[in-house]
Amino acid sequence: MSSPAVLIDQPTLARRIAELATEIRAAIPADDIHFVCVLKGAVLFTADLVRALDTRVTIDFIAVSSYGSGTASSGEVRLVKDLDAGVEGRHVVIIEDIVDTGLTLHYLQDILRRRGPASLRTACLLSKPSRRKIDVTVDFIGFTIDDHFVVGYGLDLDEKYRNLPYVGTLES
Ligand code: IMP
Repeated sequence: MSSPAVLIDQPTLARRIAELATEIRAAIPADDIHFVCVLKGAVLFTADLVRALDTRVTIDFIAVSSYGSGTASSGEVRLVKDLDAGVEGRHVVIIEDIVDTGLTLHYLQDILRRRGPASLRTACLLSKPSRRKIDVTVDFIGFTIDDHFVVGYGLDLDEKYRNLPYVGTLES
């Protein structure tokens, strides 16, 4: 298994995540922020982001399937695991690893908005705007990247590479 080339190293991730925490805190001056972590890719990002926040937080998990195997999207989004708790009246932030075509986020924002949160925002570690197929609002973006398939820091290729401490690319 070849090692991915470093695209975003660990100190750069840590610095940007601290800034994102400040941005989120400034945008949501509530006592509690409810984070919805999108499994599995956003797990590492969520863990670091909530540790950078100095407010009360709650965390729930949701899972959708968008990609099958490999790097090509089927374009189909399906709910695989729903939240444990309701979001009505809560200040909710969806935490996603990457927004690519936007189909997954569009689906998630739609189902959560229908549940009546007090506010609904989205934080994505990475965004690939050149791949967008649908217009979605992402309130907090860590890094905008070109059209590379990236792995590491939670992101996988066929379940591999999630534990890399950096974001890397497999392409030359
Ligand atoms: P979208 O629905 O096309 O925006 O895709 C979102 C999901 O596809 C993400 O949550 C990832 O799980 C996956 N994905 C998109 N691009 C990449 C990538 O470059 N590496 C790993 N996973 C990706």
